[in-house]
Formats: sequence, structure tokens, C-alpha cells
Amino acid sequence: MIPVNRTEPAWWTTSVVYQVYPRSFADSDGDGIGDLAGVTGRLDYLHELGIDVLWLSPIYPSPQDDNGYDISDYQDVDPLFGTLADLDELIAQAHQRGIKIVMDLVVNHTSDEHPWFVESRSSVDSPKRDWYWWRPARPGTTPGEPGAEPTNWGSFFSGPAWEYDEASGEYYLHLFSRKQPDLNWENPEVRRAIHQMMRWWLDRGVDGFRMDVINMISKELPPRDGAVPTAERDGVVPAGAVHGDGGPFFLCGPRIHEFLAEMHAEVVAGHEATLLTVGEMPGVTIEQAQLFTDPDRHEVDMVFQFEHVGVDQGDSKWDVLPLRLTALKESLGRWQEGLAKAGWNSLYWNNHDQPRVVSRFGDDGEHRVRSAKLLGTVLHLHRGTPYVYQGEELGMTNAPFAAVEDFRDIESVNHYRSAVELGADPRRVLDGLRRMGRDNARTPMQWDASPGAGFTTGTPWIGVNPNHVEVNAETAVADPDSVFHHYRRLIELRRSEPAVALGDFTMLLEDDPVVYAFLRRLGDVELLTVANFSGAPARPAVPGYDEWLEAELLLGNVAGSSGPELAAWEARVHRRTMTG
Ligand code: NOJ
Repeated sequence: MIPVNRTEPAWWTTSVVYQVYPRSFADSDGDGIGDLAGVTGRLDYLHELGIDVLWLSPIYPSPQDDNGYDISDYQDVDPLFGTLADLDELIAQAHQRGIKIVMDLVVNHTSDEHPWFVESRSSVDSPKRDWYWWRPARPGTTPGEPGAEPTNWGSFFSGPAWEYDEASGEYYLHLFSRKQPDLNWENPEVRRAIHQMMRWWLDRGVDGFRMDVINMISKELPPRDGAVPTAERDGVVPAGAVHGDGGPFFLCGPRIHEFLAEMHAEVVAGHEATLLTVGEMPGVTIEQAQLFTDPDRHEVDMVFQFEHVGVDQGDSKWDVLPLRLTALKESLGRWQEGLAKAGWNSLYWNNHDQPRVVSRFGDDGEHRVRSAKLLGTVLHLHRGTPYVYQGEELGMTNAPFAAVEDFRDIESVNHYRSAVELGADPRRVLDGLRRMGRDNARTPMQWDASPGAGFTTGTPWIGVNPNHVEVNAETAVADPDSVFHHYRRLIELRRSEPAVALGDFTMLLEDDPVVYAFLRRLGDVELLTVANFSGAPARPAVPGYDEWLEAELLLGNVAGSSGPELAAWEARVHRRTMTG
């Protein structure tokens, strides 16, 4: 049994966060792209779902090379999404409904069109030259020629991580696209500018930050070659077998804890009681996460780790393996245990970078509704703060992309081009994109059965999933048995039953290949969750399950079911009070 952290629980231990990807959420002006007024118009829906916090993916001015994760002005709103006044209105309207707003903070890199980079690039003597990672060509090579890059690192979006700048004869580092140059956090002026910008947002009324790839901001110096072929890094893989793996030099680098502690002291200190900070951290280990999230260290409240979304991956994220439930349990169970004494878990299946979970770990055909409810139940009953990604509460599925032309995401488009150039079978590459491509998460939110799915009256920037005629919010809200109402109950349960938020966690049946089972305990209250991850009936081999059957059934996904056997994709949460 894992002991409970006895300190005063933070407000976000009982909260649920909902992620909005504004581009795909709701389009108020018919241009085919979602916007802020669209989000504001849907706040009542989110309020009905019961969420506490809304995390907004980037809405800042951006050339949109990576859908806004390439920012050219940190303190404004892209006209695509509206104006600062629209954002103020969204914040005010959300606050009126008791919903906090968390902004995406993308400060590992800027856009190459950000004035900082424009200035940095303008001359080797520019006062901002050192704000980015400029390096000469590898000694003994001809600058600009293949292989002359300062290190052999691959970028996450295919090709080398260094771009040659002919005008100055030097290279700049970009771990993501060439339009996303990495900021140099070694330079204290950079850090000061970022802290200032963050304070500006807090003054504007936002309630925290989700920090994009924040464990990449500290790089080991000097940058050196990485191992070839590239090693898998928990779901984020520098593409292209010819490149080296720079991960060991930039994932949780030498000054990362110092930088986050400094950011906390400069920006967050004094506001802890109301703010939320969550760091996205590919490749983070439990030991590191303990340090990042230990409240006494004042770094971040929680991190997004990637281990459990890597359990179905082979040599790269595109190499998809069948899910082994035992591996998923082993991973999530270890994270539960690892952050039990100090620190806190964030819990997620989905976000704008992951395929839809009901297609990935559930059954998006015959058992779509039931398996979506099961997945929600299992996740929300873990100890940690659950994140719901738009449409997850409807059981939205992956999209039936027919051809490479249907994809919009730079990662998918670049991977297809580079893999096919390297000789891969285009059909296999396409199959990988269909299963793992980020666009699966980015098809428009399905509000109703109309041709634009209620998302837009215009032409959507990416195709609407044809299943919106049956999978949509209008139908789900009207149906008390829908995935939506199941999620609503799960969110409610977190507030009404303290053991859901704060109980300790014990994994059961670690070796069972189909049943996921665990206990939560707080005081004399004990909760048992059992879930059948299969399309055939299964009997949970939980010791004393017959007695549990006498206990209260807090939540289930199969009406009227009560026997010792779970139906296909059935999940149950039992509650009892321990006596003696
Ligand atoms: C992680 C974000 O979630 C992803 O969407 C983005 O492409 C990269 N960071 C680069 O900002």
C-alpha cells in the first residue's frame, strides 16, 4: 500500500482540466478555423461537463508552421483567433462560471519570425545574437554542405536540427521545425524577458501555464554528437535514421531544475494558492519527476510524462505495436507509486499530439461508447489531476484519412516525405500516420450532425470526421447514457468522494492481460475499480471479489450488470467502508 501525502492538499488535486485546441474547437466567423469567440460561445457546455480549468493551446501571433507552437509575439492574439479583447472576454466569462484559464507557454523556441530571432539573425554582432543557439560548421567541413552541421542531431520534424544561415555563415539550432529556433536559456536576458512576459499574462488574469517541452530548455554544453541510429525517446522521436539522438544533451539538461526554480521564484511565488503549472516533459523519468513536482522544491505542480503513451510503440512512434495491457499497468502503476509520497501525477490519454484513445486502446467500432467510458473511468480513478482533451468526452475516434493529402500536420507531412525519400513503402508510412498522426486529434470538434459538424459554416481547415452524424455533442448531451454524461459523473465523483482525489493507490492483478484493477483508500473508505479491456466477458480475479459485489456500485458502464463476470469492455467502481 502506498502512503498518502498528509500535507494540505492543493486546489488542483480535486480539479479536472479540459484542453481546447482553438483551431479545431469552434469557429464563430465561418472562416473554417476555430477562434476565441467560438470557445467563449461553448463555455456553458464545458460548465455542464463540470471542468475546473481550461487549458488553451497557443492563440498567439504565429506563422502557423506548427499550428501556433511557433510564436512570433508572446503578448498578443493572432487575428486568426481574434483579439486580446476576445481573450479578455473569454477569461472573464470563464471566471464567471468558476473555470480557470491556463495558457500554453512555448518558450523552448520562438518562431523564426519573432522580432528576437529576426534581430539575432541580422548580424553576428547583434545584441540578441546570443539569445539563440548559433554555432559554426563542424571543423573541416564546407558550411552549408550535408554533414557540416555542428552536431548530428535530428529534429523532431525530420531532417537535421540545425539550419544553415547563409548570410552569417553559421547554423542555428531548432529541435522542432526550422521555423522554430531554440532560445538560449543560458543567457539571463532571455530568462528575464520570459519571466516578464509571464507576469504580464498573470496580471491579465490567467491562472497558470502549461509549459511546452519545458525539460528541453537546458542543453549540455558544448553540444556534441548523439548516438546513431536515433533511440526512441518516449514517443517523441527525432525522425530520420541518419541523424544522431541529441536527447541525452537536451532532455532534463544540467540547469533545468535551476531554471524552473528561478521561474517559480520570479513569477509564481506568492500565487501558488490559485495558479496551476504543468510542464510537458518528454523522456522524463520518475526520479526526475519527483524532483520537479515536490512542493518543497518550488518548480512545477505536475508534469506530463510520456511513458504510458509509448507502450504501443516499437522503434519509433510510427511503428505501432498491439497494446499489452500488462505493460500499461506496469507503467502507470510505477508512476502512481513513484509520486505517492511527494509530487503529483497528471493523468491523460489524449491531447493534440496523440491519436484518439478510443481508437488506440479501446474499440472504436461495436464497443465505442462502452470502451470510451471504460477508458475514462480507469484514468479518472487514478491518483492525479485528469486532463480531458476536446471530444474525448464524446468518444471521438481517429479519422479515416484516405491519402497523405488529407494530413495537415508538419510532423506527419515531413515524416511521409522523408521516409519515402529514404525508401520506405509509402503504404506502410501512410498506415503509421493513420494510426499515430497528430491530425487524428485535430479534426474539428463534433458539435452536431450538420455538414460542418456545428464547428463551422465555412470550409474547415481539416476534414470533419464523417462519423459526426452520430458522434456529436448535441446527441450526447441529450442522452443520459452517453460518454459525455459518464465523464460528467466522473468529474463530479472527484469532488463528492475524497478517496478519488486523495486516496492512496494499490495496483491489483498486475499480470492479468485483460482486467485492469486497482484499489484506492482514504480513511475507512475503499474504492475498487475493475475494467475489462476486451471484447469478451472476463471475471476479475480480485481476491474477495464476491464480497465487493455486495458493496455499493458507485459507477458502471453497463446498465443493470451485477454478477461476478464483467461484460465486454465493462468497468465498475465499487465503494465500501472498512470496518474493524
Ligand atoms: C509539444 C507540443 O505539444 C507540440 O504540439 C509541438 O509541436 C511541440 N511541442 C513543439 O512546440
